[in-house]
Amino acid sequence: MFERLEPVIPDPILRLMAAYRADPEPRKVDLGIGVYRDDRGDTPILPSVRQAERIMLARQETKSYVGSAGNLGYNAAMDRLVLAADHPALVAKRVRTIQTPGGCGALRLGAELIRLVRPDSIVHVSTPTWANHGPLICGSGLKLEHYPYFDAASGGVQFGAMLAAFERLPAGAVVLLHASCHNPTGADLSAGQWRELLAVVQRRGLLPFIDMAYQGLGEGLEADAFGVRLFCAELPEVLCAVSCSKNFGLYRERVGSLHLLSTTAAAGDAAFSQLVRLARGIWSMPPDHGAAIVHDILEDPRLRAQWLEEVSAMRRRIQGLRHEVVQQLKVHCPQRDFSFIERQRGMFSFFGISVEQVQALRTQHHVYMTDDSRMNIAGLRPDNLEYFARAVAQVL
Ligand code: LMR
Repeated sequence: MFERLEPVIPDPILRLMAAYRADPEPRKVDLGIGVYRDDRGDTPILPSVRQAERIMLARQETKSYVGSAGNLGYNAAMDRLVLAADHPALVAKRVRTIQTPGGCGALRLGAELIRLVRPDSIVHVSTPTWANHGPLICGSGLKLEHYPYFDAASGGVQFGAMLAAFERLPAGAVVLLHASCHNPTGADLSAGQWRELLAVVQRRGLLPFIDMAYQGLGEGLEADAFGVRLFCAELPEVLCAVSCSKNFGLYRERVGSLHLLSTTAAAGDAAFSQLVRLARGIWSMPPDHGAAIVHDILEDPRLRAQWLEEVSAMRRRIQGLRHEVVQQLKVHCPQRDFSFIERQRGMFSFFGISVEQVQALRTQHHVYMTDDSRMNIAGLRPDNLEYFARAVAQVL
């Protein structure tokens, strides 16, 4: 059976991670995979996570199964983090939430649910979108199509073209949206644009599937969830895939959740039972460890306050780096305007250079970004900013 298999080239993000790790050059700069880094280039365990983990390990008395829906306390705490405790959809008991192995698990499970109801659904994703959206969604058997999104000329969103594309979609079409910190471009919708989009989604009867992987790393925990909260307040149905990888720094623990807004509490119960059954058939039960940590942080006022401060510090560092890299690029590459980097949000920016230039950065200067020129801003440091800007000047 397996002799027939052809080798495949790994996903570009994972390929780059391996190439970076294999490079012995001490000055190498990792702007590849989307993990947060500090001024030393490390991805430390957040102090709030360390503390919660210590308390949890001392308290834990069993490793028995948690259940296919995951940790129910975690699910409820995530509802409040994503939507806010007094959100009308939570008050009306229209939201059902299941713990998933990371945001990826949530995306896949959401896709499986859509396929169950309507197997010929097409999921419309932004141009461009995260490299793993396709495999996660198409792996469930759904088809993918693209709507216009990134405007390379301004570094922002081609909002008119996006709206026009949504206007042409048939009722029931699924639109995958990034809540904030758009991956890979860093170009986000403004609050006003979310409102305009809502009107079209309502009029056309579209189903939003929102991916929120960076809550707190763009403008703040509230602002980054603006679109999710608005859509869940105004629409009959929404799916939202959430990841705790970045804002809790729990990458390898695989912590996520899928939130489903349905028209009524009864419809929610039925859909939830289907989600639990689907999860049972894929991973059976989600891993406990990371979700238990998130639960304890969100429920303990002292740990929560500490975590809020840690998320703010990550966000401020990224915003500061955005400012500083623009200044450095102004000095070393005055012929080109990179000011869009400061207007973008989250970990990523589309740098806007050619594949050849990206590859020259990698081979000649040991600066690693994906071939589409997505760069992880958090990989820059005070001591490599100038090196980076000089390297860019040489390849432009
Ligand atoms: C990224 O986009 O680099 C991250 O979300 C990590 C991943 O799994 O691709």
